[in-house]
Amino acid sequence: MNTNVSDQFETYFRNLNYSREPQTLYAPVEYTLCGGGKRLRPQLLILSYLLYKDNPQDVFAAAAGMEIFHNFTLLHDDVMDKAQMRRSRPTVHVKWNDNTAILSGDAMLVLAYRYLAQVPDFCHGQVQELINETFMEVMEGQQYDMDFETMSVVSVEQYMEMIRLKTSVLLAACMKLGAILAGAPQKDCEILYNIGINAGLAFQLQDDLLDVYGDPLTFGKNVGGDISCNKKTFMYINARLNASSQMLAELDRWEKYSGNDMKCKIDAVTDIYNKLGIKDICTRKIDNLFQTAIDLFSDLSVTSDRCKVLRGLIESMINRNR
Ligand code: IPE
Ligand code: IPE
Ligand code: MG
Ligand code: MG
Ligand code: MG
Repeated sequence: MNTNVSDQFETYFRNLNYSREPQTLYAPVEYTLCGGGKRLRPQLLILSYLLYKDNPQDVFAAAAGMEIFHNFTLLHDDVMDKAQMRRSRPTVHVKWNDNTAILSGDAMLVLAYRYLAQVPDFCHGQVQELINETFMEVMEGQQYDMDFETMSVVSVEQYMEMIRLKTSVLLAACMKLGAILAGAPQKDCEILYNIGINAGLAFQLQDDLLDVYGDPLTFGKNVGGDISCNKKTFMYINARLNASSQMLAELDRWEKYSGNDMKCKIDAVTDIYNKLGIKDICTRKIDNLFQTAIDLFSDLSVTSDRCKVLRGLIESMINRNR
């Protein structure tokens, strides 16, 4: 995003006031909201709006609402995934405790709705319907993600639907919301939503890839978390599809493993991925999805020049390492 707009949003976002009592509820909210993050969702929303309008400040409240919702999901997700690190710091449930992560997360969901209620009358109903449907879908995706941990057979199709729900629909809704707030043509709103779906699928596949192959210092999260929890990622599913019978038996054994040596499990499963070339299979899938997202830009009613910054943001997501 135009750095100026990005900085302006960051200043606006950090100045939202969370200093109320009790501190035990609000300190984790501030720790989370002011503790980094790429701010991808607000950027997608603001840049989609800027395809049609020129006054980005008008959508800062909505952009903040979507970012706060995203951060709410992270607090609960880290409890569910037993994750220790996020954004290179201890997760809220580790720094405080599970109850704090649950309740401060709940408070953030309410805050998200408060900012998202501040949209103009002309689109109020449409926006509420979009966010209610989207937020419910995120929960559905998160539940599938948990359910899949204890299922040994999950198909690629089931995985893709799960990540569409837990991750893509929020990115897609941010883009559509930016366009709705700008009064864009209905067809453009749907195209932007579709761009967000494809970019979001690529984004989650990449997150799963970084969970195995990322540099924890840059990624900010512990690597191997997905393997420890038996997450059925695209990589894991493809490993099972391509595995020899000996490898399959080894994967089965690690799925049932109840010991404490997670490093040993992570190394062994990663070794199977390496032998099967799973990283390349996953990278090709990511590239295809990003390309589908980029190609959709030509269907929008706005000029290619006007799309440059938003397209640039999506292109910059392709090689992310955090
Ligand atoms: C993390 O999202 C959760 C996923 C959907 C993979 P981000 O990678 O956008 O997290 P932050 O906000 O930049 O930390
Ligand atoms: C998270 O997926 C999606 C949501 C939070 C809704 P992950 O569990 O892979 O996200 P990270 O890796 O913890 O950020
Ligand atoms: Mg997680
Ligand atoms: Mg998760
Ligand atoms: Mg992840």
